[in-house]
Amino acid sequence: MTQWNEQQLRDIAREQGTPCFVYSRDVLAERAHILLNLELPFGLINRYAVKANNHPEVIRLFHEAGLEFDASSGYEAQELLEQGVPGEKISLSSQQPAHNLTELLAQGVQYVATSLHQLELFLAAENHPSTVGLRVNPGIGAGHNNRTTTGGANSSFGLWQAYVPQALEIVAAHGVSIDRLHIHIGSGADPSMWGKMMETALEIVEAMPDVTSLDMGGGYKIHRYGDERETDMQAVGVKFGQLLQGYAEKTGRKLRLEIEPGTWLVGHAGVLLASVVDVVDTGADGHTFLRLNTGMNDFARPGMYGAQHRLAVLNDSTETSEYVVVGHNCETGDILTPAPGDPEGIESRELRRANIGDVVAIYDTGAYCRSMSHKGYNGYPNAQEIFI
Ligand SMILES: Cc1ncc(COP(=O)(O)O)c(C=O)c1O
Repeated sequence: MTQWNEQQLRDIAREQGTPCFVYSRDVLAERAHILLNLELPFGLINRYAVKANNHPEVIRLFHEAGLEFDASSGYEAQELLEQGVPGEKISLSSQQPAHNLTELLAQGVQYVATSLHQLELFLAAENHPSTVGLRVNPGIGAGHNNRTTTGGANSSFGLWQAYVPQALEIVAAHGVSIDRLHIHIGSGADPSMWGKMMETALEIVEAMPDVTSLDMGGGYKIHRYGDERETDMQAVGVKFGQLLQGYAEKTGRKLRLEIEPGTWLVGHAGVLLASVVDVVDTGADGHTFLRLNTGMNDFARPGMYGAQHRLAVLNDSTETSEYVVVGHNCETGDILTPAPGDPEGIESRELRRANIGDVVAIYDTGAYCRSMSHKGYNGYPNAQEIFI
């Protein structure tokens, strides 16, 4: 768990005002350093999934540190190019065909087709290279719930595994080969689960003789609250390395590994500071609600997924109280303490006794907060963002 200094956060809230995201450069650098020092037998490319947090300063820091990037739309890839990231360091795998595919290919962006239609668009682009990546849905999923599962029959992401032979035929007819296999199912924190995923990927690779690089996507979970588990990336790296080494000994094929973490790199690096704007209750059998001057317009994860974040009232009170913490938007669903995994339910938290004006810290808000929220809802301006 990242340790933040409460007094420092209170000072920042006083000086900057709230709501305000505070990002730690040290945490960002530390996380990048861990990934960049993993050793894999046939090479490793660490791509930061920029969808997790596309703040230009995050991109700059990670680019300077030596990470490469995963973009999830033609717009994100363009944004990265504009921030000075060379095309060769960007991999694009998008649900929507890129409107600017020709320009991106001309700049050297590495393309991963996620459907047969996307493969055909790639082959139709006049300057396409002679190799391409393919995202495959291996038929199994591993998300927290249906909203975060990105593999299996309920997920539209990636080419359904049974259609791989068709994809191979289509590219062969154009003299193109598929050299990267991409699989992202959001596998969680358990290294053995990641091992199983790679075994599945290696089975698919059997039928894809030109693949030289295996992209296992992102989905390396972090601990934010309760009994959630943090992924030990070193242990996952060891597991991946053993499997790739074993595969090379068996087949002679030395596959490079690519990973695309988003959450794992930036989640712990952010804290959202907000202020209590009201305290209301619904009687003796009801709840006491702490209403903050932020909510789903800055921070949508609890309302979308029932995601849990650690919260702290930053005052000197020695007493505690049970509160349901809510946002300032006119939506019943703007609940910041939903029941775990259930955005429909609410749960109270024991927090320091709070008063209007007190500052509340919402921890581990570096990933999928500024980049994934209901911006502008109810006319509220976006939270400020500062780096320390
Ligand atoms: C293709 C792909 N790669 C990487 C990621 C990053 O996932 P995470 O932030 O969970 O590591 C995602 C997330 O949706 C994704 O779809």
